[in-house]
Formats: sequence, structure tokens, C-alpha cells
Amino acid sequence: MKKISFIILAAGKSRRMKSSKSKVLHEICEKPLISYVNDLAKKNSTSGTYYISSPQVQNYVLNNFKNAKTIIQKKQLGTAHAVECASKIINKNNNNVVVLFGDVPLIKNSTIKNLIKYKNKISTVGVIVTFLTDKPFGYGRVIIKNGFVSEVIEERDANEEQKNIKLCNSGILICDAKYLFRTIKKISNKNNQKERFLTDICKIAYNEKKPFRFINCKEFEVSGINSPKQLIDLDLKLQESIKDKLIKKGVVLISPNTIRIGYNSKIEKGVVIEQNVVIKNGVKIKSGTKILSGTYLEDCNIGENCIIGPHARIRPGTQIYNNVKVGNFVEIKNSKIGNFSSISHLSYIGDSSIGKNVNIGAGTITCNYDGIKKNKTYIADNVFVGSNTSLIAPIKINKNAKIGAGSVITRDIPKNSLAIERSKLSIKKKIKK
Ligand code: UD1
Ligand code: CA
Repeated sequence: MKKISFIILAAGKSRRMKSSKSKVLHEICEKPLISYVNDLAKKNSTSGTYYISSPQVQNYVLNNFKNAKTIIQKKQLGTAHAVECASKIINKNNNNVVVLFGDVPLIKNSTIKNLIKYKNKISTVGVIVTFLTDKPFGYGRVIIKNGFVSEVIEERDANEEQKNIKLCNSGILICDAKYLFRTIKKISNKNNQKERFLTDICKIAYNEKKPFRFINCKEFEVSGINSPKQLIDLDLKLQESIKDKLIKKGVVLISPNTIRIGYNSKIEKGVVIEQNVVIKNGVKIKSGTKILSGTYLEDCNIGENCIIGPHARIRPGTQIYNNVKVGNFVEIKNSKIGNFSSISHLSYIGDSSIGKNVNIGAGTITCNYDGIKKNKTYIADNVFVGSNTSLIAPIKINKNAKIGAGSVITRDIPKNSLAIERSKLSIKKKIKK
């Protein structure tokens, strides 16, 4: 079987985005568009991934994607010219090339797999991915003759009859490497936009009696982005599909339109998520846990049967075990919270390790920062911390210890002891009016 290289086109100018940032670096669900495309290439490439980039995109790719190769396209002369930029460094023997667009991020992995499988099955030089739509405006229209692709015509070059065609080009294709680079040279810029269109390869191949075939994907997969509004729409579409999958799986979402969920979060069935919850990327939540309204979770793990919120904030690096209660206006950062522990009201817990059956009273603060570095707090099993306590880290509260409300604790507390630190209450004589 032939090897597979990927070429990702991402050198476009993104003028319509009204932003100095390249279009492909804009995010949906907190992840840059190009990173979705990179995931697909990473899963399927066996012979290198090549990014046709602007300097800005090159910078991002080299810093974020291992083993990716970049080629700068100095002038944007069209998609054919962009692919041609990879000609010198790509392997052409016994190799197929898949072309993806950096601004078309939602193509499914199964579609790419089907494309590769279909190419391997039939004896032809290439296959394009097409889709059917009732709103073909702006897309290249695909003309089929006897089951083969005879031509792809861009919107601006199409006549009235061709504009009614509903089969459109996604831009994604697979082609034998040798044929691709040999044929690209023949593509001219004789069209309305004076650009060299990669899609013209279909017409040349048809005339050379080596016609392209096509496979279909869903319209949703090829939603591209050309404007800030389309970026928002696509983000919402992706959110909807993430939430639909969770609902089907048995996660309960209350008022799902008000909830945001990260693209790579892992939420088990039986979890309940109330309205206005934000779950960023990298969050795992186990079955039976309830995330109450207004809660904000980032890159953390939450165990079974916990209650989190309302209005809790759990920050990166936090591991909450099972049957834990975290109540309103509690912030937890980079900490472990053991089984059956409870932090119910108005607390900050940072860089801490809290054992099992611990009760943290209202308003307790771990004072982890001394102005220079972050210090750790250890609280062992069965400790009771009274309300409004300040724990000055580094500090260790040993097993079964109790801390009286209002204390400022500056030293380690031994096990089974009661610690209390309060200034003496004095009541002055009644002041005369
Ligand atoms: C392209 C297809 C069209 C298809 C549509 C689907 C061509 C000629 N047209 O049109 O048939 O229906 O996608 O979304 O292929 N790029 C470069 N260098 C260039 C030009 C473009 O890197 O010189 C990159 C862009 O950054 C983008 C991709 O190629 O990622 C596609 O280019 P774009 O101009 O957006 O093509 P469309 O008009 O969308
Ligand atoms: Ca486009």
C-alpha cells in the first residue's frame, strides 16, 4: 500500500476576518482551527505533514506540532501554487498526498479514512471529497459525467446553469503524488480571480482519461470560516454537537444552550450539569456527580458522586476524589481533595493536599503565596478546620486535629490536638452618648 503525506493549506491572507491574526489561528471551543486539522493529519499520515504557511502560521506550527514541516508561500497565487510549494521536499515515489485546508476544521476522521480507503480500492489517480447542499453559493460546483468528476467550477466562473448544481467541492482531496506534482504545472490562472486553482486538476485528469472519483461527506463537516460571524457560528455548531453526544450518552444537561463544554472533556453518563456552567478543555467528571449552576471548571478531574457549586471555580491541576462537596464561592487550584471531604462556602484552597473526611469551614484560606514562591498546605484525614481560618503555608495539619474558628495557623499542628489562636475578647464599658 502507498504511503500517505498530508499537505495543509494555511497561507491565505484572511482579509475578511478583520484581524491581524491569521484565520487558521482563530479558535473554536478554545482550540485553534489549524489544531483540529493537525489532529487529522497526525492520525493518518505515514509520510510527513507539510504546512503551506505564512510566517505567523509557521511560527505557531513549529512551536506546537511535533514533526510538522513548514513551507512559506510568499505570494498567495492560488491553491495549486500553494500545493506546488511542497513539491521540492515531498516524497513522490509510491506516495499519495491528502490536501486539507487550514480553515476547514470539522472534517471527520472517518471521512479522511474513507477517502484513503477508496483511493486504495480503485485504480485512479485521485478522489475529491464532495457534499450536497441547498446553499451552494461560494463553493466550487462539481460536474459529474458517467460517475467521474469531469470538472470543478468556482462560483465566480460558473454560468447560471452551473450555479444551480448542488454537489459542491469540499476542497479536500487525495491524489497520487507523482501525478499531482506533474499535473499542477499545467494549471494556469486563466479565471475570474487570476489564481491557480488546484481544482483544475480534475478537468485535466478527465481529459487525460484518468478521471477523479468522489466521495460524499456531510455539509456540517466542510463548514469553513471566512468572517468573524462564521467563526461564532461554527463554534456554536461544535458546542451543539459536543452536547448532543453527551445527552445521547446519558449526561443530564439543564438548559444546554447556556452551558459550554470543552472539545476534549470526558464526562461520564449519570453526571448532571446545571445551567450556566463553563467546562473548559481537559476536564474529566465521573458518574453521579452534579455540577451546579454558575460553576467554572478548567483542566481538572472530578470523581464520583460529588456536588460542585453553585458558583465554584476549580482551576488546573486539581484532583477531586469521590463524594466530595465543594460549595458556593470556593476556588480550588492545583490541589487534591480526598473522599468525603467538604469545602462548602467561601474558601480559597491552593497548592494543597487534603485527606479524607476533612471539613473545611466557611471562609478558610490557604495562604500559599509569600510574595516570592507558592508554598504547600497538607491537611491529613479527619481534620476539622473551623470557619474563617488562615493557614499560612508551608504548613501541615496532622490527622484528627481540630482548629478553632478564626485562627491564624502559622505552625504545624500535631495529630489528635486542638489548636486555637485568638486574641482575647475585651468588652469595654458602655460608651456614653
Ligand atoms: C476552495 C475551493 C472550492 C471549495 C471551497 C471549500 C479552490 C480553488 N477552491 O475555495 O472549490 O468549494 O474551498 O471550502 O481550491 N490558500 C493558500 N495559498 C493560496 C490560496 C489559498 O494557502 O495561495 C489556502 C487558504 O489559506 C485556505 C485554503 O487554501 O486555507 C483554501 O483557499 P480559499 O481561498 O479559502 O478557497 P475557497 O474560495 O474557500
Ligand atoms: Ca475558504
